Amino acid sequence: MTSGRHALWPSLLAPDQHGRDDLCAVSAEGVRVRFADGRELLCGTSGLWNTNLGYGNQTIADAAAEALRTASYLSVFRYENEYARRAADALVELAGADHYVRVLFSTSGGAANDLAIKLARQYQALRGMGGRKVVVGLRGSYHGLTFGGFALTGEDLGQQVYGVDQRLVRHVTPNEPGELATLMARQGAQVAAVVVEPVLGSGAVPLSEEYIAELLRLREEHGFLLVADEVATGFGRTGDFFASQRWPARPDLLITSKGLTNGTSAAAAVLAAQLVADVFDDTGVVLSHGETQAGTPVTCATILATISEMHRLDAVALGRRLAGRLEEELGTLVAEHPLVNGTTGVGCFRSVRVTAADRSGAPLPQPEVPSLVSAVREAGALVHPGLHGIQLFPALTYTDTELDELLACIRAGLGLYADRVAARAEARG
Ligand SMILES: Cc1ncc(COP(=O)(O)O)c(C=O)c1O
Repeated sequence: MTSGRHALWPSLLAPDQHGRDDLCAVSAEGVRVRFADGRELLCGTSGLWNTNLGYGNQTIADAAAEALRTASYLSVFRYENEYARRAADALVELAGADHYVRVLFSTSGGAANDLAIKLARQYQALRGMGGRKVVVGLRGSYHGLTFGGFALTGEDLGQQVYGVDQRLVRHVTPNEPGELATLMARQGAQVAAVVVEPVLGSGAVPLSEEYIAELLRLREEHGFLLVADEVATGFGRTGDFFASQRWPARPDLLITSKGLTNGTSAAAAVLAAQLVADVFDDTGVVLSHGETQAGTPVTCATILATISEMHRLDAVALGRRLAGRLEEELGTLVAEHPLVNGTTGVGCFRSVRVTAADRSGAPLPQPEVPSLVSAVREAGALVHPGLHGIQLFPALTYTDTELDELLACIRAGLGLYADRVAARAEARG
């Protein structure tokens, strides 16, 4: 039942949850979000891992306002604009101008994945390999819910119902190099690209060094493009500006969004390595992709301001320091709390694995996860539902006190949740 009070149809929320004031945010500042029911909660998710620098960064807000005042709307659709030029140059500089040479702007992580898939297929076609159309992704991965991104997403989120065409997509198990090698041995000549999240968002599972080495080796052997979807891992989340900067060799395409503007604009970017750009430059062929709202002055001004604020605050170093403390605190939680049996992830991209409250030692059943998330929210903090537990993405700028508060809310939330499960069991007799 909807409340019938508002027209808003929110994403991924069951209809009976629509219209709840405790889920309706009204403002945010620092690392706190205020809700329509009057509560102010500590944000442990950087707002869907967007606001790596916290909410309310004035420099980014001022840059957006200035761009709106002086340039309003300018596009990159059959035109260029000066803001987009500067933002593209800055991104290439940030990720490594020795490798990336061009930037294509988009408006969301999903749309940027669509773009990357099209780019990879056309790249192969221009090299005379039009038969290479297959895109390989990882089981359990998330690449968005647009038709291309959704096809690549390796979680079952109802692709069949929506008629998402996955005929040209293959999924392999992450961190199982043998499975990828077998697929390539069979179908390598049809593969345009392999797209991976350096740390899988669902479950916060980092790709192992061994797996990355095998990906890079197979790229050499089979000629597919390697795409790093860094929508979640980019902008300091895992200890470097981009997680793939730690790989022994760089991907051919790098997708970034979310932290790219500190969450302030509908912006995403695909960075293309020299070999990809060269094929288009040499053939003079146009890529059929364009989004009216991509690369506008306001989005590009927020990208430039975010990069400059990341540097000014030394946010990557702050994130590393916070990650060290988070590691310690989560270690203590695992050692001390009877319901917490492990953590995964890297940097400030972490998952806390919880066991069922009946003390059976079994993983927390997935349908119970929302109840745990709600209990932590009641205790004062916003955390994200995870695989058999919760996920944490604190702002890189969190203070020690804020981290202590987050851990205290998690402990209190676990306690509330366990009490409720016990009460339910008692009521059943
Ligand atoms: C790795 C990754 N790719 C793609 C997306 C989709 O981004 P968007 O929601 O902006 O389409 C996400 C969103 O969480 C993501 O984490």
